[in-house]
Formats: sequence, structure tokens, C-alpha cells
Amino acid sequence: MKTLVFGGTGFVGRNVIGALCEAGVECVSSSRAEGTDLRDTDSVRALLRREQPGFIVNCAAHVGSLNYVSRQAATVVVDNTRMILGMYEAITAECPQALVINPIANCAYPSTEDTFVEDHWWNGHLHRSVFSYGSTRRMLWSVAECFQMQHGIKSIHFLVPNMYGPHDSTDPDKAHALNALISKFVKAQATSASSIDIWGSGAPIREWLYAPDFARVVLEVIKNPSMVGLSEPINIGQNFGLSVCELVDLIVRATQFKGRVSYDYSMPDGAPRKVMDDRRFRKVFPEFKFTPLSGGVDAAMAYYRSVLPY
Ligand SMILES: NC(=O)c1ccc[n+]([C@@H]2O[C@H](COP(=O)([O-])OP(=O)(O)OC[C@H]3O[C@@H](n4cnc5c(N)ncnc54)[C@H](OP(=O)(O)O)[C@@H]3O)[C@@H](O)[C@H]2O)c1
Repeated sequence: MKTLVFGGTGFVGRNVIGALCEAGVECVSSSRAEGTDLRDTDSVRALLRREQPGFIVNCAAHVGSLNYVSRQAATVVVDNTRMILGMYEAITAECPQALVINPIANCAYPSTEDTFVEDHWWNGHLHRSVFSYGSTRRMLWSVAECFQMQHGIKSIHFLVPNMYGPHDSTDPDKAHALNALISKFVKAQATSASSIDIWGSGAPIREWLYAPDFARVVLEVIKNPSMVGLSEPINIGQNFGLSVCELVDLIVRATQFKGRVSYDYSMPDGAPRKVMDDRRFRKVFPEFKFTPLSGGVDAAMAYYRSVLPY
């Protein structure tokens, strides 16, 4: 059945389209660059009327670094709210039978939690650094539920940690956290740089998801949308994190960077530990095998070696 990927030109969207096309799923990509702005409901309606997708993977968002979403807080809220409403209104009008799959960033979990459990999603405030963007991720969940209540539109929410892997931006200011780190080391090794500075102490522990793994989960849903357990939001979780120091060691080994690595203790660390509870995921996807971090880092490194200008 035809799958429409909103945000198909972005980091996550490109990984999703790659995996679906490889598996023979008929895919259509949509983004502003491809002619459809989700804030413009009429133009989204025209697209959906024409394409009539059975599945919609919603990888479109106005997102950026912590610094960016704070500086642009109002714009980020306005754009993402309009995109969410535009998408659900257009789906209701043109293809109410479509199943919507939403990756929802785990930054919208309460700031006080260190292990994210799905049922605790609403149990506290967002961290100030992600207030604007995180609020719209909570809104996405609420809007989807309201459109289901009134119009019967079905949505699946995957709560997703930071992703890394191929097809991200080559601009270190735009690439996502782990990708930015990997690209920094790839560049430093290629230019024989003598040292690399890392912000913070290196102690915080975070969970990472290889973006092609997210795409494989989406593919499983598309192959079997009636599988039990999809009606509740699900962490794509492994209950496993690595400290920044451990990650850096892994990347140093992978890139064979020979220079000095120094940690800038004057920069803030954030919360000491944030990982995803994996019990619900294991119940719904018992056979799913995640790509080991070392393999994912190697693949991301190969991607950056192939695209980075030196
Ligand atoms: N990356 C991660 O680590 C991560 C982790 C968890 C969850 N997620 C979630 O996954 C989704 C995608 O993230 P990403 O990292 O792939 O972001 P990204 O690389 O910035 O891609 C965003 C996509 O959205 C499109 N877009 C932006 N504004 C639009 C608009 N007004 N109308 C239509 N399309 C628009 C962009 O294309 P144009 O600019 O051409 O429109 C682009 O294709 C987000 O919901 C994000 O929260 C990401």
C-alpha cells in the first residue's frame, strides 16, 4: 500500500524512504522543497487527494539544536502547531482511512525522569531548554487523540531517543548530536588535527537509536498494521545508554584519530542519565534486533567520509 513520508528530505525521512523503497514499498516523499508546506492545509489536501496513501509517516518538523529552539521559541511553536493541525485536518478531509505513524522525540518526557516510561509521559514539566519544541510534541500526541475521538483517524506514536546514522546534514551546527560528534572526528582525522574539544565532563549517559533501525520498525508496522499493542504509544527503547566518554572512545577507535581529546568542564552537562524503558517495545516487537552501536557508528562514519568536504 502506498506510503507518504512527510519530511522525506530530512534526516529521519530519508532513512525511512530508503528502507521502505528497498523493501519494495511504494513511497512518496513530501516536504517544502518538494512543493508542499504542511502549514498550508489546502496544499496538503491537494497532495493527499492525489496520492491517497494508506500510510503516512510524519517525519516533518521545524526542529533544531537546544540553542536554536530556545532562540526561535515562538516561531518553532507556531510552525509546528500549524503543521500538526494542517496535517490532521487534511487527512480527515481527504484520506481518513490512512494510518499515521508519528516519531515523537523523547525530549518531551518530564525533565525529572531518568528512565523514560510511556505511562509517565504527562507526569511533569518539560526541561526549559526544550520547552518550545517539546510542547509541540506533546501537542502532536493530544491532537492525534482528539482526531481519533471525533473523526476516527488512527495514529501510532513511537517515542524515540536521539537518532544517529547516515543521511544527516554535513553542517556540524545542524547535524544531530552523535552525528555531529562523529563528523567532527572524521574531519579531524582526515585533516590530521592535533586536538578535539568536547563540551562538558563526558559523564552524562544517553540512549541512541540508529536511524535505519527506526525505519525497520516503521516497515514492520506497514507490513503488519494490525499487530497487537500499537494503540498505545511505544518507546523504541533498549534501556541502554552510554556516557559521552564511552562514545568518544568508541569513535576514536573507529576513526583512528591520533590527536588529543579534551573535555571542557566549564560547559553544563545536563541530566546525568536518560534512557528508555524497553518493556512495552519488547512485548510488541519481541524479535526485533537493534544494530549494535559500534556497527552503527562505523556506518555513520562511512557516510560522513563519503560526503564531507575537507
Ligand atoms: N533526529 C533525531 O535524533 C530524532 C529523534 C527522535 C525523534 N525525531 C523526530 O523525527 C522527526 C524528523 O526529525 P529530523 O531529525 O529528520 O528533522 P530534519 O532533518 O530537520 O527534517 C525535517 C523535515 O521536515 C520538513 N519540513 C520542515 N518544515 C516543513 C513544513 N512547514 N512543511 C513541510 N515539511 C516541512 C523538512 O523539509 P523542508 O525544509 O524542505 O520542508 C525536512 O524534510 C521530528 O518529528 C523529530 O522530532 C528525530
